[in-house]
Amino acid sequence: MKFKGRDVIDINDFSKEELLYILKTAKKFDPAFVKSKKSNYTIAQGKIAALLFFEPSTRTEQSFKSAAQKIGMGIIGFDDPEATSMHKGETFEDTIRIMDAYADVLIIRHPEPFSAKRAADVAQIPVLNAGDGPNQHPTQTMLDLYTILKTFGKLDKLKIAMVGNQKHYRTMHALSAAMFKFSGNKIYGISPKGLEMPAEFKTKNYEDVTIDMRKLNQTLAEIKPDVVYAGRIPKEYMKGDISKYTYQMSIKTMEFLPKHCIIMHPLPRIDEIDPNLDTHPNAIYFAQARNGLYIREALLSLVLGRI
Ligand code: NCD
Repeated sequence: MKFKGRDVIDINDFSKEELLYILKTAKKFDPAFVKSKKSNYTIAQGKIAALLFFEPSTRTEQSFKSAAQKIGMGIIGFDDPEATSMHKGETFEDTIRIMDAYADVLIIRHPEPFSAKRAADVAQIPVLNAGDGPNQHPTQTMLDLYTILKTFGKLDKLKIAMVGNQKHYRTMHALSAAMFKFSGNKIYGISPKGLEMPAEFKTKNYEDVTIDMRKLNQTLAEIKPDVVYAGRIPKEYMKGDISKYTYQMSIKTMEFLPKHCIIMHPLPRIDEIDPNLDTHPNAIYFAQARNGLYIREALLSLVLGRI
């Protein structure tokens, strides 16, 4: 297994063994497993991460910044491309070439599918895809896998109900592809009509469950999932009134689910989860976001060949 110098563009570029190795490395950064107070500051001291955020972000951007600094890296970059020379007409590729010259790792989020791949094609240094439009979000998937593994101690023989917009939701695309690598999993993509999973992301473990979202609780009761993975209905990809696609889970939803079923969400949530569910012990979306830090510390250390 070789991680040094590697790009993280598509979840399918990683084998099951490689994914498990990344998750195992993340444990070294997780206070749930590491009791020593030893700092990780010397791991990548002197290295620079460039964060190029062409699209808004809270968790992904801030957790990458935090992870980079926790392992001693400096950070440069932008989250407002209008404040760069792209405003003057500089191309995406030239912008990447320039940032490549100033950093050791590029972390990129961009509204267009395959933009991270385009960046990797011109960059010499590792490129980490922090979300390329409606395509994929592989580092989110790694933290999702980590969260599932931490909860159940396994990544196989699980039933996952993904709820919301399967069509445009990059975290569901990559999670479905990742779960297919492990044996005996079944993914149910619960969505309103018109927002089903695109064919290229459907594995043979995936099943579309197209419903009127007002029937969500009954549908979940029939599926009996181990994990509910909820997601936003992203209005940036949709035209007109999205109210017919929206749904809301609440404390009441838990009555329809198996006792052990956990509720995940990559966040941000809008109305999909009533805050009255937040204190339920099986609502783990905030812990999930925290896990993103450990995964990103691990990934940066691995692609820099420092761990
Ligand atoms: C997700 C994303 O950006 O794809 N958020 C995240 O990175 N945690 C989900 C979303 O935008 O709804």
